[in-house]
Amino acid sequence: MPFTVGIDIGTSSTKAVVVENTGKVVYTVSHEYDFATPQALWAESDPKDWWAATQACLRDIAANVDAGDIVGLGLTGQMHGLVLLDDSGNVLRPCIMWNDQRTSAECEELTDQLGLEKILEVTGNPILTGFTAPKILWVQKHEPEVWQKVSKILLPKDYIRYMLTGVFATDVSDASGTSLLDVGARDWSSLMMEACGVSADMLPQVYESPEVTSKLTNTVSESAGLPKDLIVVAGGGDQAAGAVGSGVVLEGMVSASLGTSGVVFAPANTFKPEPEGRLHAFCAAVPGKWHYMGVQLSCAGSYQWFADELGFGSNFKELDGEASQVQAGSEGLFFLPYLSGERMPHADPYSRAGFIGLTLRHKRGHMARAVLEGVTFGLKEGLLMMNQLGISTDKIIVSGGGAASPLWKQLMADIFDSRIVNVNATEGGALGAAILAMVGAGLYADVVAACEATIQETAEVTPGVDREVYPKLLNTYSNLYPALKSIFPNMN
Ligand code: XUL
Repeated sequence: MPFTVGIDIGTSSTKAVVVENTGKVVYTVSHEYDFATPQALWAESDPKDWWAATQACLRDIAANVDAGDIVGLGLTGQMHGLVLLDDSGNVLRPCIMWNDQRTSAECEELTDQLGLEKILEVTGNPILTGFTAPKILWVQKHEPEVWQKVSKILLPKDYIRYMLTGVFATDVSDASGTSLLDVGARDWSSLMMEACGVSADMLPQVYESPEVTSKLTNTVSESAGLPKDLIVVAGGGDQAAGAVGSGVVLEGMVSASLGTSGVVFAPANTFKPEPEGRLHAFCAAVPGKWHYMGVQLSCAGSYQWFADELGFGSNFKELDGEASQVQAGSEGLFFLPYLSGERMPHADPYSRAGFIGLTLRHKRGHMARAVLEGVTFGLKEGLLMMNQLGISTDKIIVSGGGAASPLWKQLMADIFDSRIVNVNATEGGALGAAILAMVGAGLYADVVAACEATIQETAEVTPGVDREVYPKLLNTYSNLYPALKSIFPNMN
């Protein structure tokens, strides 16, 4: 039975899965690392930690599965990170990550220089603080001695590809999050490169996600115990690969992923940026297709933060139990989930989280429910933007840690007024990367065929009586950010 491997270079761990061509996951392993927050709004990670974790995952795989049956490897990972290498392939500074918010000034500069309309037309998105291009400008301005030595600019998973294969390559979906890609043309944009002072030879070659970019070097295959000449496919950014791993690959499908960040996602057959750029328009991991995506920076991350600070650790069942005793609307308590600033629906690095509406009656269960309702209201705001583009959100495929919570799924069904559907796959991006490798290795004709053969729907939750009360509560929630917006910058 042929296997493929998917490797996900995540924010706090690298995870690898080994998958049969039926989609059955036969082995999973992960190795953790930390990331640093050297200043408020900053987030940095050491690419050498990702490489050490990847090597450890590969060694574990070789020790636990019949490595001779592995026919392909796919990569995915955190998007938008800036990895800078010198001309000997050495990492020049820690990666400036997707959740780093230091670049407001550089975003403004690029937008003033090129105009929002042109930027949207070419890159599908406004220039946002988490994206790669403004980070390049930041390094040029604040660390000129580093910039002088830069030979290559890579995204996180593509640094790991370089270490595995010695080749500089990326894929269209991950490249879409750099603000350097012409997203309609699916190749680097000369306009954006010029505006950022980047030459074409500094960037990796762009491939479609299931295409083979390179093979493992002999040194890596020998030290990892993997087959010689194992192919590595381009892979995808974590959300694009996660969509493949949940079978969300056809226009008309919509998904919500409830991880640290929360994402609403809809595949599209054409490239047509959202008029105000509030939803991302990116290349999909399906060749020749695109997707819309709204990213909430602290989704299950908000619930995790609340559980940690109230001493529940990861005992979400107990916390869900208390929250489920509370009526819809948490007796007038609202939670704004902007713990890391926000990207969608309000691209605002200065926005802050908060409970609003506390009274003496409110207990921990109310607060827990308000957190879940708050993040779900935020995702609903993204779904409403999709509705404005003519996308139906009657059925939502859910994934990520939150997709295992019956309470949260019912809240989504009621707040979204949608059917909430689980699929048989829970490995997200890593599984998606392994499925892309199946296509690259020739096990399936294309990504859609591979998903049809591997992903099935397993459960469904439908809206209940609370769907009646949530529209009014959503309205109150949506009025909170505009009321507080001008105050947030004074808190930073
Ligand atoms: C996508 C995004 C996150 C990060 C980290 O735009 O910012 O999904 O890739 O997971």
